[in-house]
Amino acid sequence: MAKLRFGVIGCGWIGTAKHIQTLAKHPDASLVALCDILPERMDAAEKQYGLAGVKKYADYRDLCADKDIDVVHICTPNMLHHEMAMAAFANGKHVHCEKPLATTSAHAIEMVATARKAGKRLTIGHQRRFFSSVQYMKRLVEAGELGEIYYAKALDARRRGVPTWGDYMKKARNGGGILFDGAPHSLDLTMYLMDDFKPVSVYGKVLSKMRHETEGNPWGVWDHEHSDVEDTGFAMITMEGGATIYLEAAWLINMLGYANSTLLVGTKAGVDMQGKDGAVRVNTIYNGKMAVMEPEVYSPMAALVGGEEIGDRNAAGYELDDWIQALKHDREPLIKAEQGIPVVQIIEAVFRSSETGEVVHIR
Ligand SMILES: NC(=O)c1ccc[n+]([C@@H]2O[C@H](COP(=O)([O-])OP(=O)(O)OC[C@H]3O[C@@H](n4cnc5c(N)ncnc54)[C@H](O)[C@@H]3O)[C@@H](O)[C@H]2O)c1
Repeated sequence: MAKLRFGVIGCGWIGTAKHIQTLAKHPDASLVALCDILPERMDAAEKQYGLAGVKKYADYRDLCADKDIDVVHICTPNMLHHEMAMAAFANGKHVHCEKPLATTSAHAIEMVATARKAGKRLTIGHQRRFFSSVQYMKRLVEAGELGEIYYAKALDARRRGVPTWGDYMKKARNGGGILFDGAPHSLDLTMYLMDDFKPVSVYGKVLSKMRHETEGNPWGVWDHEHSDVEDTGFAMITMEGGATIYLEAAWLINMLGYANSTLLVGTKAGVDMQGKDGAVRVNTIYNGKMAVMEPEVYSPMAALVGGEEIGDRNAAGYELDDWIQALKHDREPLIKAEQGIPVVQIIEAVFRSSETGEVVHIR
């Protein structure tokens, strides 16, 4: 079979470090086109990843219309995901969309329905599912080692971790702040591990208490005068299966926080990712005593993107390989398009609940 031909829209941080880097070296992929409104970003990627002859588009509609492309990867600010995906489907392309799928549930639902109608595949950039630690936790859950899971925490509370590049500070471009940045990952991880993607109600609170506290951020100072997004969000979410998820998301918080993480509590044991460097910890009763086990599973945080090989140390490589194999063998990818909808529904509901002070029901 001929190699699948890819086009990447958005050559910023994730477009380059994850998508272009992985696609440039994948044996079943041919990266034929890039698109960005900043031509220097395409030039830099071409040079860095040896993409001589790659086509470069300033307008995503031209890339979507390119007949030499089978698959479009969308790596642009959140607000653009919907219109770009719709253009790609209209031109008969498969779509990989970075998280979150969209900034409204109506858009997310339309994207999933349009993909289905067009007979094309759609997936979302939740590479954290491919961390070795997460796959280990998934096996524990599936083997029934935790018993009935009735409580979980979706955690992305960063002590300091404010993204200072791109459009993260602009509601009109990002849809919100931390809730449209980190929360999608931790919500996805939690629902994936619980195998329950059906939220039924949400009570939430959205805050911007820390916007002016720009000291100590590893990514530098941000333009707090022009930021109009929340820096913190909390929520209690009830799932159809009866479990409760507590969402804790913050770009900056005076707490020893946990970035991009999850914690599951079952009737037999609990598990979290709060060991050294994000290692898995299982808490259980062993020989009649409380015990904490730290199985030797490669710690995940360094494995986000990059690396020379597609392998155990590169969650992004695993995620994109699963996607490429899914397209090649005409099967579902691990990250199913419709699983992106409840993520957006929950975030929307957190905002609405915070505005009204009421519990929001999701149907
Ligand atoms: N999977 C992950 O872990 C992860 C990590 C970071 C970001 N993301 C997601 O990736 C997306 C991009 O984030 P980023 O941090 O790479 O941002 P970024 O600002 O670094 O990159 C975005 C790029 O899109 C380009 N762009 C903007 N408007 C465009 C347009 N109309 N046409 C073509 N290009 C356009 C920008 O010039 C920029 O190069 C966001 O949706 C974000 O949520 C995912």
